[in-house]
Amino acid sequence: MDVVVLPTAADVAAHAAGVVADRIAAQPALVLGVATGSSPVGIYRELARRRREEGLDLSRLECFALDEYVGLPGHDPHSYAAYLRREVADPFGLSAERVHVPDGVRADLEGAAQDYEQSIAVAGGIDLQILGIGTNGHIGFNEPLSALSSRTRVLALSAQTRADNARFFDAPDDVPTHCLTQGLGTILEARQLLLVAQGERKAQAVAAAVEGPVAARCPASVLQFHRRTTIVVDEAAASRL
Ligand code: GLP
Repeated sequence: MDVVVLPTAADVAAHAAGVVADRIAAQPALVLGVATGSSPVGIYRELARRRREEGLDLSRLECFALDEYVGLPGHDPHSYAAYLRREVADPFGLSAERVHVPDGVRADLEGAAQDYEQSIAVAGGIDLQILGIGTNGHIGFNEPLSALSSRTRVLALSAQTRADNARFFDAPDDVPTHCLTQGLGTILEARQLLLVAQGERKAQAVAAAVEGPVAARCPASVLQFHRRTTIVVDEAAASRL
């Protein structure tokens, strides 16, 4: 596991975007796993800038979301499908069918989870997975005590995650109670992992993930098992290492 500590959040975004851009330059049809939340936004904006100003070709990417809320249709601006249209598909010049998101409004959610695993397999697996980390150590929406070998499935969100994500909604009660998320086993199958974290509020989770025991109480600690993982953090997020 490589850990890169940089002074600021802007440095984290620039460095991580460079890692992604180098992979895309070598392999334009990269299968890219895209996290949502605030952490990766700087990466997506830097990649879009390189596309506009430097001609980086993003049009052949195939993208897979990590997770989606249950019950929010794709036209709801709070859904991760809408987030990925705003931050990835449109600025990258990608057609909608190149950005896959689990179907959180299907009646048969378990079937939607299995179909999602299948669509990743059909694409040949994920080459590079971008990750954020929750304050409780979750990756995707794999909350503490998720099985380390878990697959894409329906999960209840923890009270802490719902409180953390309330800032994206009009009212705390509007945060969905359930999600579909790639499992920890699914994430570990990506060929390369790139986790970014910024700010003091992530420091404890980052320390547990990097230096703690591999344990279900910190799902991100499972990254210690992966052969090709890079963690890029600012000094605040690294402050407990
Ligand atoms: C969210 C997402 C994760 C994300 C994490 C951190 O709930 N499901 O994919 O990495 O929690 O969010 P943020 O980057 O907004 O701090």
